[in-house]
Amino acid sequence: MKWPEVIAIDGPAASGKSTLAKKIADRLGYLFFDTGVMYRAITWLVLARGIAPEDELQVTRLAERTLIEVRPASIPDGRACDILIEGQDVTWEIRQPEVDANVSVVSAYPGVRQALTMQQRRIGARGRVVMVGRDIGTVVLPEAEVKIYLDASVEERARRRYKEMEARGEVVDYDEILAAMRRRDEIDSTRKVAPLRPAEDAVTIDSDGKTLDQVFEEVMCILASRN
Ligand code: DC
Repeated sequence: MKWPEVIAIDGPAASGKSTLAKKIADRLGYLFFDTGVMYRAITWLVLARGIAPEDELQVTRLAERTLIEVRPASIPDGRACDILIEGQDVTWEIRQPEVDANVSVVSAYPGVRQALTMQQRRIGARGRVVMVGRDIGTVVLPEAEVKIYLDASVEERARRRYKEMEARGEVVDYDEILAAMRRRDEIDSTRKVAPLRPAEDAVTIDSDGKTLDQVFEEVMCILASRN
């Protein structure tokens, strides 16, 4: 079977797109690439350097100068891959609440998006990749053969994020997570450059009430039909 070379998966935070994409990539023997980690890595570096996230010029300069490396997982601690920035492993640091709280602001800057989009396109050009994000089908790889937009209600997504954090032993409050999720949805979908929205030729799947396996089978049928 000849599978599509490039598969784009977009959707809001905690819609389950990364878990889905990883499963598809493993099945096809493709690279799984979650572009959100790049925006998170830059946000982490901004905070680590003591730069104010509101300082667009400094944040943009940093994004233009910094190479983010995404490599196969070197430690079996539940990570999908290693994320390195300036040689430092920040795989788990980029999941901290401070990063969550600031990443939408950083990722709304046009210069930051341009710098990271270029790095993402280079990876997409190699083919055999499942790329995940907010603007993969619309901006990064508009030529992708298959585009999936994975959606779920904000309450369902907040519940999933709550469970993930609880499983990692973090102290969490559902209402706070729900409020933060709403804030991020608002910023991600109303920003001027590359807002979160389905591409015109994307297939939208609503994952509310569906298991990962059900969504996975649905996507595999779509991929098989594009042969
Ligand atoms: O998917 P995530 O929660 O790890 O994404 C982190 C942030 O990065 C999120 O606020 C939206 C942003 N992002 C983006 O703007 N474009 C992408 N292609 C991927 C993520």
